[in-house]
Amino acid sequence: VPVTLEDHKMWPPVFVPLYDHVPDRSRFLDALSRPLPTVVWANSLRTSGSELGEILHSIGIHARRASWNGDVLRLAPGLSLGRTFPYLAGLMHPQEEASILAAHLLDVQPGEQVLDLCAAPGGKTAFMASRMNGHGSILANEMSQARTIALRANLDRLGATNVTITVGDATRLSLPQAAFDAVLADVPCSCTGTVRQNLSVCDELGDQRLEHLVTSQVSILDQAIRACRSGGRVLYTTCSLLLEENERVIAEALRTHGTNIRLRSLDAHGITFAPGITVWNGEQLDQRIAAARRLYPHMNDTGGFFYAMLEVTR
Ligand SMILES: C[S@@+](CC[C@H](N)C(=O)[O-])C[C@H]1O[C@@H](n2cnc3c(N)ncnc32)[C@H](O)[C@@H]1O
Repeated sequence: VPVTLEDHKMWPPVFVPLYDHVPDRSRFLDALSRPLPTVVWANSLRTSGSELGEILHSIGIHARRASWNGDVLRLAPGLSLGRTFPYLAGLMHPQEEASILAAHLLDVQPGEQVLDLCAAPGGKTAFMASRMNGHGSILANEMSQARTIALRANLDRLGATNVTITVGDATRLSLPQAAFDAVLADVPCSCTGTVRQNLSVCDELGDQRLEHLVTSQVSILDQAIRACRSGGRVLYTTCSLLLEENERVIAEALRTHGTNIRLRSLDAHGITFAPGITVWNGEQLDQRIAAARRLYPHMNDTGGFFYAMLEVTR
């Protein structure tokens, strides 16, 4: 689709550096001004995607199952579900689709030891706990004590029992080394990928704040890699579309950990991803970063997200 002069004028300033990288720019712009679909996942500790679909239907809510996971249901935009029976009974959890996809991609298994370094409000922690069906354990850490209230409330409502919550700064938490099978580093970020939910999110980002975020992101990913056992995996995710918070952080990890980590390719049935960016203003980044995945809002009608799966090989 050709880009018009109008597109140039409307292009959000924070995304200007990405201008040449976003595929199908007109559709990208178009998606930014459309409301997000409501998405929920069925809590497999208590129900299934098909059963939840029927329950929702019985209260007048139409649901479509996602191609990449039958327990993930897409509903109409703008639904308020907090007072419905399936929500209160812990049969489901509403969460942005790109965010559920992160927890899905880590593919935790019953019996595994899992570390979730930045856990509140707990959508991904609870999703992973539901996959583990009470076997194995999750250490869910969060820096903000206040935000652990929502984390605990979500885990309680959904009946997740194999989760221990800690409150600490993941950049300098004292963690057991090489101990976990799977680590999620869903780091604090600029949230520029959530612009469909909150148009002002991109205006509030200054250079200093970005620099501070990147420093934390690099440390948290470093901690995640050190805590992961050999043969285990670390999933680094952000709801940001900025190169600084994504590919640059992975490049830094590759520099620090050398051959002790390997990027694994990611896929989800029916989801269209863009590869990690490897050429930036004529600068060549590490080629291996192409295995990371970008989710632009127009590609699958979701928020914007970044995913990089690292296998620890030390
Ligand atoms: C992207 S959110 C996590 C969302 C969560 N994983 C979920 O799916 O519900 C990032 C979280 O990291 C927390 N955070 C910020 N800095 C942190 C740090 N240094 N250590 C641990 N958590 C931190 C924030 O308070 C926020 O709750």
